[in-house]
Amino acid sequence: MSWLSDTLTSTIGRKLVMSLTGLFLIIFLVVHLAGNFQLLADDGGLAFNAYAKFMTSNPIIKTTSYGLYAFILIHIIMSIALVRKNKAARPVGYSEVKGSANSSFSSRNMGILGFIIFVFLVIHLRNFWYEMHWGAIQMDDAGNKDLYKVVSAAFSEWWYVAIYVLCMVGLAFHLSHGFSSAFQTLGVNHSKYTPFIKKLGIAYAILIPFAFALIPIIMFLNS
Ligand code: HEM
Repeated sequence: MSWLSDTLTSTIGRKLVMSLTGLFLIIFLVVHLAGNFQLLADDGGLAFNAYAKFMTSNPIIKTTSYGLYAFILIHIIMSIALVRKNKAARPVGYSEVKGSANSSFSSRNMGILGFIIFVFLVIHLRNFWYEMHWGAIQMDDAGNKDLYKVVSAAFSEWWYVAIYVLCMVGLAFHLSHGFSSAFQTLGVNHSKYTPFIKKLGIAYAILIPFAFALIPIIMFLNS
């Protein structure tokens, strides 16, 4: 198993793990967003509640969810390990840092942007995911847990919506570097494909968090 410990302790190995777990999370966000759009159906939450029941009871989705939780944790742990290793390698910073001259705002702040997403996830999972699994939620007319009621109650508070929107801005910046950086780490560096991947990454980083932010805004306006 020395290949595993070699991978998890070398800088390139850790970056590789971060890019693979990051790409999985990028796919998860698209699926999660598509499901969340059912919150906007004008049916008192029946479709969304049926969807939430399916997502928490289907054995294949449940197994994928355990992988998702593991990948989120691995992504976070690897990022902390990388930052610590970089700091240890260069305890004194560069004497001259011309930040914006050769790097983007996002690439220089991936750690803090990741931390914002982490705080978001703690709040998010406590209020929705934990409630769905272990909370005392009422049933809807179809006999499913009324998770829609929990979500719409949260999004009837302006400050809660504001937290979501701000966190989605952080997510957008994180993804704007993370998307193309993941491909670069995996060795996809080609004059033909790299410009396309960069453009796709920027489009993804704007559209997905924007659509996520739109859901609480619309629900607040309808509340
Ligand atoms: C408008 C924005 C969002 C809404 C309304 C929303 C809604 C929800 C709800 C209701 C659940 C619980 C579902 C269940 O347990 O079946 C959930 C779970 C989850 N959400 Fe979100 N979400 C949003 C944005 C996000 C974002 C941006 C992320 C990641 C950065 C995220 C990550 C997760 C994760 C990891 C879970 C647990 C999934 C699982 O158990 O498989 N969510 N979300």
